Amino acid sequence: MTEALGRVLVVVPTYDERENLPGALDRLRTHVPDADVLVVDDGSPDGTGELAEKIADAEVAEGRQRVHVLHRAGKLGLGTAYVAGFGWALERGYDVVVEMDADGSHRAEDLPRLLAALPDADLVLGSRWVPGGSVLNWPVSRHVLSRGANTYTRIVLGIPLRDATGGFRAYRAGLLGQLGLDDVASQGYCFQVDMAWRAVRTGARVVEVPITFVERELGQSKMSRAIVVEALFSVTRWGIAERSRRVAGAFRRSRG
Ligand code: GDD
Ligand code: MN
Repeated sequence: MTEALGRVLVVVPTYDERENLPGALDRLRTHVPDADVLVVDDGSPDGTGELAEKIADAEVAEGRQRVHVLHRAGKLGLGTAYVAGFGWALERGYDVVVEMDADGSHRAEDLPRLLAALPDADLVLGSRWVPGGSVLNWPVSRHVLSRGANTYTRIVLGIPLRDATGGFRAYRAGLLGQLGLDDVASQGYCFQVDMAWRAVRTGARVVEVPITFVERELGQSKMSRAIVVEALFSVTRWGIAERSRRVAGAFRRSRG
């Protein structure tokens, strides 16, 4: 199925995911054997970057390298990790670029369904909050945060998406090239909303496909108060900017 889509790259950002990465890569190999993978590691103190390198070297020795590694100097944020990974993908001519967590929360077995929706879309969002989607093993606080963030986003930006904050998605490379990656300022998880918002404004076809998100069993989430605050401020700012654009547009039209 992936043949029709062209070359697929799955970008996996990592920070201290040593216990999770090998399993995640194995499951990708099983369920999406044709896809390449780029691990974007931020100098993880636990050695995730070196481990990824070893896995890549072993593949080179076997004659088929699917896993590649991009090392960054330190923890620079999920958003900037993806921007770096997307640039890497576009430079190398991939046709489809996927975002996926390393901690097992995004199930590789759901990825073929995301990719299957791409022929009729430019961006496919793996969605926890459409019928058929779900989250397993989250504390109530994370449910409240995610539902609240998505409701706020929907109202403030006026977009119909149920899960604009999710991090399991597939982009057509052509769309990524149009989204102005050079001026993305989002460092943390609000990057996800930033990209969805840019895609909608570009007039892209954005489709949501249900996924089951399974909370990690090993290691820790890197979600922090600073990440939530950045998201709240950013979405509010984008909403105000959009409203002023609309008002300015209406004013210009009323003056003929
Ligand atoms: N390179 C890099 N740099 N990777 C990072 C960084 C960073 O600064 N911060 C987090 N990551 C990696 C993690 O190692 C993991 O592979 C992935 O990004 C997701 O991080 P988690 O910390 O496990 O995120 P989460 O489970 O709390 O949040 C998930 O749901 C959010 C919405 O509810 C993610 O999918 C988020 O992208 C999503 O916004
Ligand atoms: Mn996680």
